Amino acid sequence: MSFESDVRRGLGTKPYRLPPHWFYDELGSRLFDAICLLPWYRITRAERRLLHRAARAMTQATPRPAFVAELGPGNGEKLTLFLEDLGGAPPILLVDISHEALAASAARLAKAGFGRVAAVRGTYEAGLARIARERPRRGSALVLFLGSNVGNFEPPRAARFLRDVRSALEPGDGLLLGADLVKPEKDLLLAYDDPLGVTAAFNRNVLARMNRELGADVDLTSFAHRAVWNAGEGRMEMSLVSRLAQTVRIPGARLDVRFRKGESIFTEASYKYVSADLRVRVEAAGFAARRHFEDRAAGYALTLFTAVNRPR
Ligand code: TRP
Repeated sequence: MSFESDVRRGLGTKPYRLPPHWFYDELGSRLFDAICLLPWYRITRAERRLLHRAARAMTQATPRPAFVAELGPGNGEKLTLFLEDLGGAPPILLVDISHEALAASAARLAKAGFGRVAAVRGTYEAGLARIARERPRRGSALVLFLGSNVGNFEPPRAARFLRDVRSALEPGDGLLLGADLVKPEKDLLLAYDDPLGVTAAFNRNVLARMNRELGADVDLTSFAHRAVWNAGEGRMEMSLVSRLAQTVRIPGARLDVRFRKGESIFTEASYKYVSADLRVRVEAAGFAARRHFEDRAAGYALTLFTAVNRPR
């Protein structure tokens, strides 16, 4: 689960690929924050509005959660705003593989006066195990999985992940799940290949990270950012395409990687959902949808699920 071993595994055999969580070092996290400010990447702002509505609905309908965990909190801004809307200060657990994301989120929560914040630097699996151990016996837990995170899993992996979340919870616990929805292709292409080139920089930064951390010699200008909509699979596909035939040396991963001209590294898939479809999948994992908030124009939805029957 280190960058080095993932680079060795992902670039050691074809087709080349890298897991997307390595985007988020210090520079990558800031570039992603910038993406979220771009007029073409609308889901972050839409989600903020929907979170506000969700928090209001939750204060009216249910007792407040006695424990809140977020998987992949990013810069912590959304969680902070949500908790402020929700009122109260439950114990909080943050789970992220990125040290920078954890540090930024914890600092933001502390600044807003949320004192009881713990963090797991690791995989979602490690975080879920900790949630299962640490959730209080009394009261309900709430897990947040926001942004387009669920869309970055292949569908079978998403199904397994949802069952794992369910297994970590008790009946009555909540899952607040964000999902980016299917929308016109031209909107998706602008969201993932913006005219300012911020998204291209974000994607290429994983190569810059190989240079910084693994002593690689990648010429960043020799790779192009590519974002395509795969209608058959219902997903955006992001990759880095070698503009020329070349060999990249990555001493820190004890690897030399040869590229043909036009050969690429697959860096992320971002599945776009249809709300009703996603609901069926989440309910199959042992949840029931309670509230649904949707921004049609931005193509983004937030659904509050409760854990019900035990998953098989
Ligand atoms: N997880 C985000 C998404 O799927 C990350 C992201 C935004 C991204 N823009 C990107 C990943 C461009 C790779 C390339 O929306």
